[in-house]
Amino acid sequence: MTDRRPLIAGNWKMNKTSGEAREFAVSLQEKVADVTDLDMVICAPFTALHVLKEELEEGIVHIGAQNMYHEAKGAYTGEVSSEMLLDLACTYVVLGHSERREYFQEDDQLIAKKVKGSLEAGLTPILCVGENLALREDGKALAFVRGQVERDLMELTPNELRKVVIAYEPIWAIGTGKTASSGDAQEMCSGIRNTLAGIAGSVAQDIRILYGGSVKSSNIAELMAQPDIDGALVGGASLEVQEFAQLIQNAR
Ligand code: PGA
Repeated sequence: MTDRRPLIAGNWKMNKTSGEAREFAVSLQEKVADVTDLDMVICAPFTALHVLKEELEEGIVHIGAQNMYHEAKGAYTGEVSSEMLLDLACTYVVLGHSERREYFQEDDQLIAKKVKGSLEAGLTPILCVGENLALREDGKALAFVRGQVERDLMELTPNELRKVVIAYEPIWAIGTGKTASSGDAQEMCSGIRNTLAGIAGSVAQDIRILYGGSVKSSNIAELMAQPDIDGALVGGASLEVQEFAQLIQNAR
């Protein structure tokens, strides 16, 4: 038995102008006004965060970013700090997404610093981990993901660890329409929880673990029924408000 509060996180990636973000936020709030039994967050591009602050700060849908840099300020052209995110009413930040690892060469050492920095600032990091197809086919997925979890969370105290959200996102399932079976997703999320228990003992029972990779309104219920899956990180299906609102309703 657990009292982990479910979390549905939308990850817009590089989509939506500020005008589109406003329209979405207004409409979503109306559609999920009755949802009090799970946490909801929209992780938007930096350029849309000020609009989400205006529309959502007083409401029940939380605001998140998709990246940040761990230094507080200074000569880091193009980067955004935790303080800047807090200023825009962000409470969550996605870190170590596979697209950042792959296209922007983010490694575990950097991601570990970002996770630590986000927690020190009072943000909730959503740390993404997950294997590619070759690793899965070689039977190395669990060992690989376990290594990511250990390296990315290495710097944290048990109290910090408790606040982290982990998103298991098999790379081969992202944006491909191929969802991991709920059994495979559960197996990995349980493996992640065992890894966390190895790091921080009973704290592992408090940590929320999400599944991500082609989650839709039609498959969310089956995923949520798994004992170690506490929610979802949703890309494509978070872009259309009707679908995302339906997904949230079906997650309950
Ligand atoms: P998807 O993306 O839902 O479009 O597969 C998930 C993610 O990358 O966070």
